[in-house]
Amino acid sequence: MKGIILAGGRGTRLHPATLAISKQLLPVYDKPMIYYPLSILMLAGIRDFLVITTSEDKPLFQRLLGDGSQWGISLRLAVQPAPGGIAEAFLIGADFIGNEPVALILGDNIFHGYGLEAHLAHAVAAARNRGVIFAHQVTDPQRYGVIAFDGAGRPVAIEEKPRRPASDWVVTGLYFYDPAVVEIASGLRPSSRGELEITDINNAYLARGALEIIRLGRGHAWLDMGTPESLIDAANFVRTLEQRQGQRIACPEEIAFRRGYITADQLRRLAEAMGATAYSRYLLGVAGESAGTNVS
Ligand code: G1P
Repeated sequence: MKGIILAGGRGTRLHPATLAISKQLLPVYDKPMIYYPLSILMLAGIRDFLVITTSEDKPLFQRLLGDGSQWGISLRLAVQPAPGGIAEAFLIGADFIGNEPVALILGDNIFHGYGLEAHLAHAVAAARNRGVIFAHQVTDPQRYGVIAFDGAGRPVAIEEKPRRPASDWVVTGLYFYDPAVVEIASGLRPSSRGELEITDINNAYLARGALEIIRLGRGHAWLDMGTPESLIDAANFVRTLEQRQGQRIACPEEIAFRRGYITADQLRRLAEAMGATAYSRYLLGVAGESAGTNVS
């Protein structure tokens, strides 16, 4: 399975913070924003990544992520010339995807909760011949893709940013599809906001009877970080979890080690390169433990 992280866009709702730097490189407490979605796809077992960004930000992502080999993964960068919609990722990434299933995650999404790894493993297996998306309940569904259900609780339609939402279940920024997604994306026309909509892809799978929706229950947190308020909320969420538990979340180095992609010595070297930071000390502690421990 291939993994795409969409980190394009201009981050206009965060100006001036994002005038000179990509939103997805901003710090969220102790690490760059993109570490959070990258970690989710790594927890899904994906090791082959395409990060889609803007031409201005590409060198910065290159500096941060390299080719991924330091974390035992493969990572390359591609450019989305203009904000053409989430679904455009499948056209930009068509060659990268080839004939494999693919997962797409938005570069400003955080997922956290007990049992998430099991959901991810299920999605990876199921996406061999269908689409699998994740839904979450929110108080402001009109900002998102909203799922309408029939009386039996089956999804019947997804509406993008409806004025009158049919439910409070919305589509999050994590999607798994079989390779047919590329063809579906090539048939899309831009919406009234000028974008290729991921909602149109999901409705195409729904119409084929090939869309599975995993409802993330109340034990799960889903955050996105498009505004100053949501950015600080996410940072505080991460800080609260990490300080209370003494365990960090979304460290690619730790996941790589626990999954056996890198050795304890490699992890130590990565930690040492980060100097006298709490992050470095944490990784050194992890390097002293045995591999194979749960990280979700
Ligand atoms: C996009 C999708 C929407 C989805 C949301 C998740 O919204 O269009 O269906 O619910 O991501 O964050 P946008 O970021 O384009 O407003």
